[in-house]
Amino acid sequence: MGREAHSNEGDDGRREGRSRHVPVMLQRCLDLLAPALQQPRAVVVDCTLGLGGHSEALLTRFPEARLVALDRDKEALRLSGERLAPHQDRATLVHAVYDELPEVLERLGIPRVQGVLFDLGVSSMQLDEADRGFAYAQDAPLDMRMDQTTGIGAAEVLNTYPPGELVRILRAYGEEKQAKRIVSAVVREREKEPFTNSARLVELIRDALPQAVKRTGGNPAKRTFQALRIEVNGELSVLERAIPAAVKALDVGGRIAVLSYHSLEDRLVKQVFAAGAATTAPAGLPVVPERYQPRLKLLTRGAELPTEEEIAENRRAAPARLRGAERIREDVE
Ligand SMILES: C[S@@+](CC[C@H](N)C(=O)[O-])C[C@H]1O[C@@H](n2cnc3c(N)ncnc32)[C@H](O)[C@@H]1O
Repeated sequence: MGREAHSNEGDDGRREGRSRHVPVMLQRCLDLLAPALQQPRAVVVDCTLGLGGHSEALLTRFPEARLVALDRDKEALRLSGERLAPHQDRATLVHAVYDELPEVLERLGIPRVQGVLFDLGVSSMQLDEADRGFAYAQDAPLDMRMDQTTGIGAAEVLNTYPPGELVRILRAYGEEKQAKRIVSAVVREREKEPFTNSARLVELIRDALPQAVKRTGGNPAKRTFQALRIEVNGELSVLERAIPAAVKALDVGGRIAVLSYHSLEDRLVKQVFAAGAATTAPAGLPVVPERYQPRLKLLTRGAELPTEEEIAENRRAAPARLRGAERIREDVE
């Protein structure tokens, strides 16, 4: 989920990214990447530029490093472009989905990088811009595309997907136990009139769920909105390709840090890191040949969490899970 704290959000605050922006677990991310970025001509990739909070800090803390930063949201690139203008000789901002990282690096003539950062999910700018349709707390067109120039929005998913597919999405991406009940109501309603706005969906979910479920805290629409957002943006399938690609782009000694915000993302990151850190040798070999040796060393014990103080200052940091790894060996073909 989005993760920058809000200052007082007047119109000025909305226009000026910097004032409402506290990057999550910033110090820890910088410290994790530091040993790899202190060398001359280091390149660091921020795969989720957003409003540029982490990127700006990377450029400031590592004055010799070059930054390549990706975002699929053109508005995010525009805003952070202004913010990073003082560093423009060392920063290349690219409109891309992060699983395109290998092609982006190839185009830029960068064979290997020393650091990669992912800060997954949506930005507070995306959540705050009502017309993007990410937030269930305000009525808006049901869109939820991070890149509004391509793909289909949440309303189309809701109005056209077969019921079975909608149930699968709500269960898998929203961990919604009441998926069947919600989807039955959606299907009934969409036959009368297609969905266009978020308020109608929120109301429908409220009406569809039993009282006992509604009492268990949080907005009952939260899980459905998360599921639709993940589907609309293909988030998990993109991440599934992107993390291994990022590990592959790392030089030996290079480091990767990933901030996830829900268990599905974190599980995926954990699996890729764990597989890279394990030997693939058949059991019982007296000496483990090079090709079976681990490629990665884990830098975090399990996932690290934000401190109580950080959560108190920035409630959007609460679900964050940080994992880091270092590339310790070349691939042997
Ligand atoms: C949480 S924000 C990043 C905030 C940033 N670290 C900062 O400090 O401002 C995540 C950003 O990643 C972008 N994003 C999400 N999925 C993406 C993908 N698959 N490819 C490229 N960008 C993506 C979103 O558009 C959003 O701007």
